Amino acid sequence: MCGIVGYCGEKNAAGILVEGLKRLEYRGYDSSGISVGFNNKLTVIKKKGKISNLQAAVPKDLPGTYGIGHTRWATHGEVNDLNAHPHSDSSGKISIVHNGIIENYIALRKKLTAEGVEFITETDSEVIPHLISKFYDGDLEKAVKECLKHLKGTYGIVAVHADEPCRMVGARNGSPLVLGIGEGEMFLASDVTAMMAYTKQVVYMEDGDVVVVDKTSFRTTDIRDNERDKQISTVGWDIGEMEKDGFPTFMEKEIFEQPQSILRGMKGRLDIDQGTAKLGGLNMTNRELRMVNRVIILAAGTSSYAAMTCAYLLEKIARIPANAELSSEIRYKNPIVDPGTLYFVVSQSGETADTLYAMRELQRKGAKVLGICNVVGSTIPRESDGGVYIHSGPEIAVASTKAFTSQLTAMYLFSLIMARMRDMSMIDGKKIVEAMAKLPDDIETVLKLNSHIKDIADKYADCHSFFFLGRGLTYPIALEGALKLKEISYIHAEGYTAGELKHGPIALINEVTPSVFLVPDDSLREKIISNMKEVKARKGPIIAVAVEGDKEVEDIADDVIFVPKVHEVMYPFVMVVPLQMYAYHTAVKLGRNVDQPRNLAKSVTGARMPASA
Ligand code: M6R
Repeated sequence: MCGIVGYCGEKNAAGILVEGLKRLEYRGYDSSGISVGFNNKLTVIKKKGKISNLQAAVPKDLPGTYGIGHTRWATHGEVNDLNAHPHSDSSGKISIVHNGIIENYIALRKKLTAEGVEFITETDSEVIPHLISKFYDGDLEKAVKECLKHLKGTYGIVAVHADEPCRMVGARNGSPLVLGIGEGEMFLASDVTAMMAYTKQVVYMEDGDVVVVDKTSFRTTDIRDNERDKQISTVGWDIGEMEKDGFPTFMEKEIFEQPQSILRGMKGRLDIDQGTAKLGGLNMTNRELRMVNRVIILAAGTSSYAAMTCAYLLEKIARIPANAELSSEIRYKNPIVDPGTLYFVVSQSGETADTLYAMRELQRKGAKVLGICNVVGSTIPRESDGGVYIHSGPEIAVASTKAFTSQLTAMYLFSLIMARMRDMSMIDGKKIVEAMAKLPDDIETVLKLNSHIKDIADKYADCHSFFFLGRGLTYPIALEGALKLKEISYIHAEGYTAGELKHGPIALINEVTPSVFLVPDDSLREKIISNMKEVKARKGPIIAVAVEGDKEVEDIADDVIFVPKVHEVMYPFVMVVPLQMYAYHTAVKLGRNVDQPRNLAKSVTGARMPASA
């Protein structure tokens, strides 16, 4: 989604802003722009398309040591230079960048037009600079606060004024905004990645904050001038983690990072002696955990498939009724909150609007909601009632890979804790702990299959439709495999539980529709093999992901990807990685933009309701 970066300091602002915007590219965007202040004048440059278009349009020697930049993902008005941010008032003295949606912009636009203001864009955001201008009497902070009182909707905003050099005013309500504190320079951005090359000292803004920043200081208040205390945090990862490190794409790099990211997520959390795990952030006593009689896990997209896998696991090993629900459904469904139910929300970004608002809706009804998130300091971990960071490290590719296996890791640890508090013996617990500890090595083994998987992906890259089929714990993995293929290769793919095939979808099986079967060595293996035979009988090509040495599967399938034998509940890990690689190689073969697939954004912050709604 849209990205914001603002800078004030001693250096050339244009270069820093464009570089910051490049760091935000991964969020998805369709146009970009900057506004730089110098000699009581703001120079605004905006371009449709890639940031390279903007970079080409920005003069190398553009003077100015403060300014703002934006990557836009169109919501109101078509994608063109004019609708790109920053937006300005009629005098050109004020520039703003805005993430979010101004819900009452039509009424405001009408009112301002009647007062003589001329609008030049189709955006909701353009009302902001005009309102600030209306209230401006020499104090940008005051004018911004006055403007905010008239806005309904969501925003992360940064504003600058040509007559107030090296000063930025930022405000947050529903869209992330972070302050970066450097040596004689300050940053405001929607995401720490934009400023990581310069500072790791950050302050996360909360909804309702207004922050005024100059080169060396900042002050945070609410809209009515009441001071708000802020804590400075240190970002726990390095800029190097945001580089491709010799890989052609971030997605491939992130797939190959999984042995380390899974290990990081388990570090210090496995209790080998007791055959259980420790998760400090749950903020719940053992007694409270024992009282839980149901678990509901909410998420969207890939995170929802991690949630679903873990709901299966919780029922299987901890014998607790558990469900995964789509946050976009729960959010509007008036959920029934039961006091014995523990709720989780799972989100890589910690900013997904559907998940965030579903969480708030549940909390409003008295639920305790724990977060499973990756991005430290994002909104969900800050507003949830506790939770676990997955420590995946920055995930830049739009298609989620390493965050998925890290989400599984965190929720497997939780499931193990719950299982050991109930039915599971220490011996069985120890087996799971050992199997988890071995996962990084097992994933390394799977990664060595890269060129074999590439060959298979190349072979079927011209097919127009795929099925992905699993059962039990690997059913959500089939769904994830289909989603991965869809989102980066644009090939139609459907994930199903293999048992459902004969209830309808089998009508689509023919010689040119491959089915990818997941065949773990567990109690459902025989059932899946029967489903493979149903497909074979209808001449459907079969790609199987099976366990090393499974001759029977090898004989039925046209192509096989053999993964190592693991504990029966660990197959989701070793089977999802080949599916990620499969989707990746197919997309590369088809010449797709793997890291930034069409129409998608990394963090779907969409239209939002403010916290107070
Ligand atoms: O940041 P989140 O985990 O909340 O994001 C949820 C989905 O938007 C995300 O998983 C999406 O489906 C990805 N594009 C999957 O690769």
